[in-house]
Amino acid sequence: MKILLLLLVIVFSCVCSSIKASVTYDDKAIIINGKRRILMSGSIHYPRSTPEMWPDLIKKAKDGGLDVIQTYVFWNGHEPSPGKYNFEGRYDLAKFIKLVQQAGLYVHLRIGPYVCAEWNFGGFPVWLKYVPGMSFRTDNEPFKIAMQRFTEKIVNMMKSEKLFEPQGGPIIMSQIENEYGPVEWEIGAPGKAYSKWAAQMANGLKTGVPWIMCKQEDAPDPMIDTCNGFYCEKFTPNKPYKPKMFTELWTGWFTEFGGPIPTRPVQDIAYAVVRFIQNNGSFVNYYMYHGGTNFGRTAGGLFITTSYDYDAPIDEYGLLNEPKWGHLRDLHAAIKLIEPALVSAYPKVTYPGKNQEIHVFQPKSGACAAFLSNFDPNFSAKMKFGNTQYNLPPWSISILHNCKDEVFNTAKVKAPTTQKKMTPVGQFKWQSYNEETPSSEDRDTLAMKGLYEQLNVTRDASDYLWYLAEINISPREHFLTNGQLPVLTVMSAGHALHVFINNQLAGKYHISRAFKTKLLRLVYKQYMILTVVCLFDPVIGTVWGSLKNPKLTFSQGVKLRAGVNKISMLSVSVGLANVGTHFETYNVGVLGPITLKGLNEGTRDLTKQKWSYKVGLKGESLSLHTLDGSSSVEWLQGSLVAQKQPLTWYKTTFNAPAGNEPLALDMNGMGKGEIWVNGEAVGRYWPTNIAHGSCNKCSYTGIYNENKCNRYCGDPSQRWYHVPRSWLRPTGNYLLIFEEWGGTPDWITLVKRTI
Ligand code: GAL
Repeated sequence: MKILLLLLVIVFSCVCSSIKASVTYDDKAIIINGKRRILMSGSIHYPRSTPEMWPDLIKKAKDGGLDVIQTYVFWNGHEPSPGKYNFEGRYDLAKFIKLVQQAGLYVHLRIGPYVCAEWNFGGFPVWLKYVPGMSFRTDNEPFKIAMQRFTEKIVNMMKSEKLFEPQGGPIIMSQIENEYGPVEWEIGAPGKAYSKWAAQMANGLKTGVPWIMCKQEDAPDPMIDTCNGFYCEKFTPNKPYKPKMFTELWTGWFTEFGGPIPTRPVQDIAYAVVRFIQNNGSFVNYYMYHGGTNFGRTAGGLFITTSYDYDAPIDEYGLLNEPKWGHLRDLHAAIKLIEPALVSAYPKVTYPGKNQEIHVFQPKSGACAAFLSNFDPNFSAKMKFGNTQYNLPPWSISILHNCKDEVFNTAKVKAPTTQKKMTPVGQFKWQSYNEETPSSEDRDTLAMKGLYEQLNVTRDASDYLWYLAEINISPREHFLTNGQLPVLTVMSAGHALHVFINNQLAGKYHISRAFKTKLLRLVYKQYMILTVVCLFDPVIGTVWGSLKNPKLTFSQGVKLRAGVNKISMLSVSVGLANVGTHFETYNVGVLGPITLKGLNEGTRDLTKQKWSYKVGLKGESLSLHTLDGSSSVEWLQGSLVAQKQPLTWYKTTFNAPAGNEPLALDMNGMGKGEIWVNGEAVGRYWPTNIAHGSCNKCSYTGIYNENKCNRYCGDPSQRWYHVPRSWLRPTGNYLLIFEEWGGTPDWITLVKRTI
């Protein structure tokens, strides 16, 4: 009898706990266990930091007053080849979510699996492009099958780890697709059918928590359509019974190689949050709260830097970005104070003057919250409310607890400002190994007639693809005697191209725009040395595109001799596109035409002749990033170490500096390439790609856009490259660098980041 009773109790409590916890929504807010919540959320993408950094980042998010951590799920990181999954290390999604839960926070899981996110190929595995009949993000069977398979994989994994809220886990919401609205608009009927299918498919997975579809006005019920942007106060969901949610409030912006570093003043971020909340918004997610690092070759969207700092409240290295973090923490504390009023009333709005608004939330419960807004970008305002007069700086909103006490004003920043410094802690003794231009006779080359698209050949196994050809020059060519170099013209879909003629980087030295900028800086002593280095900037034989225009044309006079000449072109991809529809049509590399002009015959078309292809570098196939691989070749040492020489591998060992400050490599002096530490890929470096654009003085007032508050014009877009502490052991760390066009390795320093 006793046992039966006990069993009954157990069964009853199980039933209870499975129905006790639940997440739903109404027009006001997300409802967790019967309680409407105003939720403050922040994006932290798990593969953009290391598992060792996760607990500290999550703690800082919690201390910063967040309720939720939002992350995308990165398909190409989890399924690098079809059916072969990776949930280890930086891709240990379940571990990340469990750490968030241990900290007492919720999770918003954006499965996508298309994610955009300045991530390679928007998160799609490149192999997907080669599944027969594939057409991305539309009503296409092969795509839908693959998308469903991966989404189910993730949902089932979350379920089996008991991570959805009704199971006692932290996931209170998911997302399917990402900003599909504009695409649907563009492609019409098939887009509409696809988004309907996506909603049904996701919904059918029965996660027990709501799904959102961001930037998707026609998101079918019960999906919640949400807003992304710098401001979202004017947004209304597509049904009156859905809550108003801001799934991406951009705290800054990403950096592209060749571009300056965008920043966004915290006063304006706070202003955007409060405008949203006072207009009945109930969920705000900061994109990004910690941006982190695009390690290895994960950066996507073309030309995106390895740093994904984003000017987020926690910086790339995991340090607080003050006063941003602190001011937002103060804001969150104020919002918590007034949450009872916000969740139980609609705002009553009055307009006391030009550019002024007052929003009052006064439920029957007796709680009261008011927002006094001064939208004027230039003038401060005095506003009377109740018996009190309040002073509002331009472009600011005050939050009044109990409709009386000013607990926060978006423009009155009390949090301290801190400066970060990069302090050198070590230099290196290098050894070098020169990678020769391959020969079309090599065993691992593939000869074909005509030009082939790069991705199709590399399948993105490497950034690099060699295009090799031979051309015959008759001894009777006039240019051999009259000194008029024939002009080689190569059209490429991108993203960078190094042209070698008879194993020498082609072209001649020219003063780059970067150099001119540097020259102007000569007046500042600290730049003197840098200028001298840049004097020898070997911007020869090399061309590259940009995020806006990835296509490029190489067109230069080239030195050819009578007889057979070797043309070797190293085409380099710098991340694959992350936005758009037809990923299946996406092209990289030399597509032609290729011509040689100035011969006796006029112009010779080289496009359709025999070209040989070699995927990747010799150093990559030898796995030089591992110690075993590195011992397979002869390295030059001491005075023989290559300087300013293209296609050079550099290696060294170093000890970890004492302390726990974050570390980085200062790559100034180097050209372009990739870095590995103890076999881990740090990422692409490119300090010679200088920030163009305008860096005007920036005011927090007035409408913000990503070009408004640029910094560091004329400097490298990215000079420092994060080396996570957890990748290092106390001594004997192995650092490997591949330099594409020539650099001065002795300039590389290890730095620590201090406040
Ligand atoms: C959004 C997108 C994000 C990210 C952001 C820019 O439109 O949803 O994934 O790409 O833009 O950083």
